[in-house]
Amino acid sequence: AVTRTPLIAGNWKMNLDHLQAVALVQKLHWTLKDAKHDADSVEVAVFPPFTDVRTVQTLLDADKIPFALGAQDLSAHDSGAYTGEVSGAFLAKLDCRYVIIGHSERREYHAETDEVVAAKVQAALRHSLVPVICVGETAEDLQTHGASAVPVAQLTAALAGVAAGTEVVVAYEPVWAIGSGQAATPEQAQDVCATLREVVAESIGADAAERTRILYGGSVKSGNIAGFMRQPDVDGALVGGASLVVDEFAAIIRYQK
Ligand code: G3P
Repeated sequence: AVTRTPLIAGNWKMNLDHLQAVALVQKLHWTLKDAKHDADSVEVAVFPPFTDVRTVQTLLDADKIPFALGAQDLSAHDSGAYTGEVSGAFLAKLDCRYVIIGHSERREYHAETDEVVAAKVQAALRHSLVPVICVGETAEDLQTHGASAVPVAQLTAALAGVAAGTEVVVAYEPVWAIGSGQAATPEQAQDVCATLREVVAESIGADAAERTRILYGGSVKSGNIAGFMRQPDVDGALVGGASLVVDEFAAIIRYQK
């Protein structure tokens, strides 16, 4: 079987200006260094607000900090008259490796439909960015359709038109678990993530599905991460609130210890 490098990703959301970003990244790096954390065992990625991306890129580069960089969104277009939008081309130029697409907060507050999400996935791929495709059901969806129906439909739509073998990351974030302190159980996360892996297999091939990292997100903390990481189909975490607290995020990254 393929071994997938676990990915622990910090989605800062609309938190930390560029100076606070520098302080957090430096402290996180030192904390992991002091703990003699093996940088190859777990991939760490940070997703700052757009205005911090250039600053964080410079810092990672200057101090040889082994974190991957990503943005929280991108435009579906490459350039042109789209005031306020940010092109994947600009993100790629800043050494972003990843871009979050279809976070439930964008679906909810910015009316991002499955079609918009699919167009953004295509935009990311045009610029060699790895899309971190977020899917998840609301509490109401869970009641009405069970846990996996909505995430399956969202992922199927996002992967339509993606070529076989393409590298993507999937993040399963039940909306009811985000910022609520009420995480899914490891078994619930495993169930949905295993089903999502089947969707990846049907959409872009069995080999790609074996290699694809599927993350769990929603109230991940140092106290519950190990349970998720023990699940065979959970390959990491997309962490919101806890990624803003250095010791907590470092403990999540060091979940094996
Ligand atoms: O993208 C991560 C996120 O939505 C989870 O947030 O604060 O529950 O870890 P939080």
